[in-house]
Amino acid sequence: MMIQKTAPLLPEALSPAPFDTPGFSRTIASWYRACGRDLPWRRTRDPYAIWVSEIMLQQTQVDTVKPYFERFMAHFPTVFDLAEASMDDVYKLWEGLGYYRRAAHLKEAAMTVANTGHGEFPSTFEQIRLLKGIGDYTASAIASIAFGEPKGVIDGNTLRIISRIFNRQDNIAKTSTKKLYQAAMDHLIAFADPSDFNQGMMDLGATVCTPKKPACHCCPVKSFCQADAAGTAALLPVNIKNRNKTDIYLITAVLRCQGKYFLVKNQEGLLNGLYGLVQYEAESPMGFEDQFYDSYRTGVRLLEYEKEFRHVFSHRVWHMSVYFGEIEAGEHPHIDENLYTWEEMQHLAIPTAHKKIIEALSRL
Ligand code: ADE
Repeated sequence: MMIQKTAPLLPEALSPAPFDTPGFSRTIASWYRACGRDLPWRRTRDPYAIWVSEIMLQQTQVDTVKPYFERFMAHFPTVFDLAEASMDDVYKLWEGLGYYRRAAHLKEAAMTVANTGHGEFPSTFEQIRLLKGIGDYTASAIASIAFGEPKGVIDGNTLRIISRIFNRQDNIAKTSTKKLYQAAMDHLIAFADPSDFNQGMMDLGATVCTPKKPACHCCPVKSFCQADAAGTAALLPVNIKNRNKTDIYLITAVLRCQGKYFLVKNQEGLLNGLYGLVQYEAESPMGFEDQFYDSYRTGVRLLEYEKEFRHVFSHRVWHMSVYFGEIEAGEHPHIDENLYTWEEMQHLAIPTAHKKIIEALSRL
């Protein structure tokens, strides 16, 4: 393991940390040692094997990669075997895995390592990053797993975990958020074994801290998690893609109240007279709750993210991040006329954009 004199500081925007960061990191690493997934590429510290696995894991599920990895390593056990192989043989072993440029880049990088590095695999993040086909995530994964360098991996899983553990509403689609969370990961990883920490974060994201229905009841870092304490885990992270003129980004909610559904009758525009789900161009689920209160003087709680639905109109596209929510039971004089039973809803004119959400949800 690389020894760091001091851990990089947590960025100012996240300081002071609302939980014990060294304790969090050590818990992730020891959970990984006890409960981490047993995967073929985890039985070795050979940088070449780890590199092959990380390339295969780009855009591809773990279960798909397993047999490909084992076959590939049996055919090309060292970087020299791969460097000398024919491209036809490499593609044959890659057949069905997709994204075939990965195979071409892997072979090219193997030749670089075999020829210029005499088979010695580069051993730091900066050097590894220079190889063909290797981006920040892959370089961090190899540097930490094979060489113990304290460099945090940033992907959808770790962005989600950081959002939740700090209970932050930063939009993870933004580069600035990725940079901020990279700095948080580089702070956290300094307190534990880097290989175990990064792989623990990967496994936590894949098996416990999942996008939908996170398994907080069995999470090893539940006691550190600020979103768990605030009840916001299922709403995070905020992930709102780039905006432009024709694309409209909405938070759309399926709201229930005592067995009825909340619908709005459009009063203007193309959908005038039709009934729809309530939606706002809100930046976050909490922003939606505030706007709903401003409109209806009634409290609502969004409880769970479902998924993004898209609807293309002739002149614009709605990107609807759909959430489930509830309006507390009780008297609601301001919204009485907005509540319909499932049966009543079938008789109302609802535009296709929302009809397809309602139909998808009725099949759940
Ligand atoms: N996804 C990317 N790298 C991974 C790894 N080393 N283990 C499990 N899943 C991964």
